[in-house]
Amino acid sequence: MGLTQNNPLEVAGRCYLVSGAAGGLAKPIVAELLERGARLILMDTDTDGLNSVIAAHGDENAIAFTGDITDQAALDAAVDLGQTRFGCLHGGLNAAGLLPIAASDSMDADLFRQCIDVNLTGAFLFSQALAPALRAAGGGRIVHIASVSSMVSNPAYAAYAGSKGGLAQIVRVLGREWAADSIAVNAIGPALTETALTRDYLSDPAFRARAIGDIPMGRLGLPEDLVGLALLLFGPGGGFITGQTIYVDGGRTLV
Ligand SMILES: NC(=O)c1ccc[n+]([C@@H]2O[C@H](COP(=O)([O-])OP(=O)(O)OC[C@H]3O[C@@H](n4cnc5c(N)ncnc54)[C@H](O)[C@@H]3O)[C@@H](O)[C@H]2O)c1
Repeated sequence: MGLTQNNPLEVAGRCYLVSGAAGGLAKPIVAELLERGARLILMDTDTDGLNSVIAAHGDENAIAFTGDITDQAALDAAVDLGQTRFGCLHGGLNAAGLLPIAASDSMDADLFRQCIDVNLTGAFLFSQALAPALRAAGGGRIVHIASVSSMVSNPAYAAYAGSKGGLAQIVRVLGREWAADSIAVNAIGPALTETALTRDYLSDPAFRARAIGDIPMGRLGLPEDLVGLALLLFGPGGGFITGQTIYVDGGRTLV
């Protein structure tokens, strides 16, 4: 059957693990996946945040799981939960992350390590925990939220850009390593978007004006901007895309 006879964004009946599921960028993707009939394990360290996501969508097709993406046992338990409750898992969205911004002369070493631990090591462990389940399902899709900082250099972003640049490379390596198992691994690279992660920084008018000035389309990102690409990467239309970091950034990576 040709692709034109299918919906390239179809996710009905598919089951996914979502980390950072209580966060600002995950929220509209989670809402759209549920709206279209997917079933989700929602993982985050923020139990209250998870509860409010469940309150918004109901618990029929979404299960909350409090866990840390740097904790392999928690990731294994989340994958087990998905397989037990849904029968199998078809993929994962990793939207967990930290953003410490500090001039490199004064960046705290522990904060640097924590950023790498969550954004980079956590992303790797998330992928590693999912891979056997996806192999068992005959293949699957892993989508990470990277950043324009996977490519551009912003002053005071050494930890964050290091983690996100590394993530873009992990995505390329895993994409190649697991292609024969029909596991596609990709990342979405958003521009600066107002969420809990960035709200304090953006409350500084000079920071905000500079951020908008750096984006050729002249506005910050919106969480909703990522939904279309996320659906494509999970749906039949994205089946031959792997190892890519695709920027949804109003042109930020062009300058
Ligand atoms: N907001 C932006 O401007 C922006 C731009 C580019 C990329 N990103 C990336 O997108 C992702 C989501 O960011 P956001 O803006 O939604 O931030 P957010 O703070 O709203 O959400 C991040 C979520 O991750 C969770 N989290 C943090 N550490 C965790 C851990 N160790 N284990 C499990 N969950 C953990 C938090 O509790 C939170 O719910 C991050 O990776 C971020 O780097 C954000």
